[in-house]
Amino acid sequence: MANDLTDPTEVAPVDAVLASFARTPDPRLREILTRLVRHLHAFVVDIEPTMAEWQAAIDFLTSTGHACTDRRQEFILLSDVLGVSTLVESVNDRRPDPAPAAAAAGQDRTESTVLGPFHVVSSPPRALGDTIDLTGGGTPCLVTGEVRTTDGQPLPGATLDVWQADDQGFYDVQQPEEQPAGNGRGLFTADADGRFRFRSVVPRHYPIPTDGPVGDLLRATGRHANRPAHIHFIVAAEGHRSLTTQIYVADSPYIDSDAVFAVKRRLVREVETVHDPAAAARHGLPSPFRQLRFDFVLEPAEEAGA
Ligand code: BEZ
Ligand code: FE
Repeated sequence: MANDLTDPTEVAPVDAVLASFARTPDPRLREILTRLVRHLHAFVVDIEPTMAEWQAAIDFLTSTGHACTDRRQEFILLSDVLGVSTLVESVNDRRPDPAPAAAAAGQDRTESTVLGPFHVVSSPPRALGDTIDLTGGGTPCLVTGEVRTTDGQPLPGATLDVWQADDQGFYDVQQPEEQPAGNGRGLFTADADGRFRFRSVVPRHYPIPTDGPVGDLLRATGRHANRPAHIHFIVAAEGHRSLTTQIYVADSPYIDSDAVFAVKRRLVREVETVHDPAAAARHGLPSPFRQLRFDFVLEPAEEAGA
């Protein structure tokens, strides 16, 4: 029987496309493609794009690909501003709620959040107490805390890979001519009590790159490009699930409107002002000094099903 040309789902029937994937040997790939095609067809039927709109979408994705280099990943950025990176990350980070007593005792594991596109180089190993600020700009800040496991035991020898933007809101890899390589980065090893400390500058909010197609998308939709002030961490310890996360500054602009939707309430901290001249001298900081404290709680690898 001839197709009903008034019904677009009859002209390009989704069932025929689904049937074309029926013999995909990998069951997961088959499932993903099947659902993708169902959602895509439903989306097209829903919005009924004109040919010009469909071509614009293809041109946008083409230019997103062209914007990618070995130092820039515009597709990750696109996934970030659509909230999909945070969604994928959260889907993979789901756990049963902790017992209230464990949560109250600070033994609830630290939540993860997105990696972001700037972890593109290895962080230089540094000693506890070192600074990651190689340019001397901004307000000095001591960052301290401990790494422990969900039963409250410290994790000596845990590693903390740290990276942050400078006081102007740029990562070293964005300004290879202006910032020394490794500025704002450090790989630290926690001491015998699982404690860590390093010096940095109080992080500042900054805009994600807007000179590519993702920037065009933000402008076309009247969205701002800013992320609230944060420091990135990858915390790892033997026998534990590695944690990729960020610590956010409580009073930062954009704390409630992150351009990439990655802020989680329990990752937000005040940067305190510490009036303790002896401590300032011990850490090689002016008095008073700013301090950001955060304890990381890692879950055993088997609990995470890793
Ligand atoms: C970042 O925090 O480095 C970041 C995360 C997502 C998109 C852009 C930047
Ligand atoms: Fe960042």
